[in-house]
Amino acid sequence: MAHVCPWWMGYFLINPLRKLFQNPHKILSPHIKRGITAVDVGSGMGYFTIPMAQLVGDNGRIIAVDLQEKMLARLNKRACKYKVDNQILAHLCSENSLDLDNYNGKIDFALAFAVMHELPDQKKTLQELYDLLKDGGRILLAEPVGHVSSKEFANTADLACQIGFKKVEKSVIKRSHVVMLAK
Ligand SMILES: C[S@@+](CC[C@H](N)C(=O)[O-])C[C@H]1O[C@@H](n2cnc3c(N)ncnc32)[C@H](O)[C@@H]1O
Repeated sequence: MAHVCPWWMGYFLINPLRKLFQNPHKILSPHIKRGITAVDVGSGMGYFTIPMAQLVGDNGRIIAVDLQEKMLARLNKRACKYKVDNQILAHLCSENSLDLDNYNGKIDFALAFAVMHELPDQKKTLQELYDLLKDGGRILLAEPVGHVSSKEFANTADLACQIGFKKVEKSVIKRSHVVMLAK
């Protein structure tokens, strides 16, 4: 099994001080429009999911996918606190699949932040994400510098391109390798 971030690390990842270098609204507002349906892969306790739900508004939907129940349980509590629980579907996946086939072709945008290096089969997950997206839909991949080398990140981006994704526009996020891909 690939190394999976322990559930208690989730509390560090939602620390508000993280906004000083990774501000979710600043990172995501250019990409998330009101009313869209988006996926947050490896959502953890929802550092990005809650702002995503605020950005899509009442008529949008965020599917937060994680394989750890404790991450999703905390996310659901936080969603209630921030009054975005109606916009968020917390989905428990299995280690080897996102198990979201019923949404194929229905997703406008996906975020995979600090999760690719934890996946047992990156190519399989990238293929699942490709299938989930509408034509023209986009995915933002970001991986932590330090945990993931430039070469490893380039390999992930190459796998995505082999599947059919195209690299689009450059994005910069502090302490991260970043690529925006389009279907
Ligand atoms: C380092 S945390 C990042 C959380 C969040 N994206 C953030 O940036 O704050 C990685 C998350 O990915 C989840 N994860 C690991 N392997 C996964 C898999 N195969 N499928 C779905 N989620 C996974 C972990 O449970 C954890 O919540």
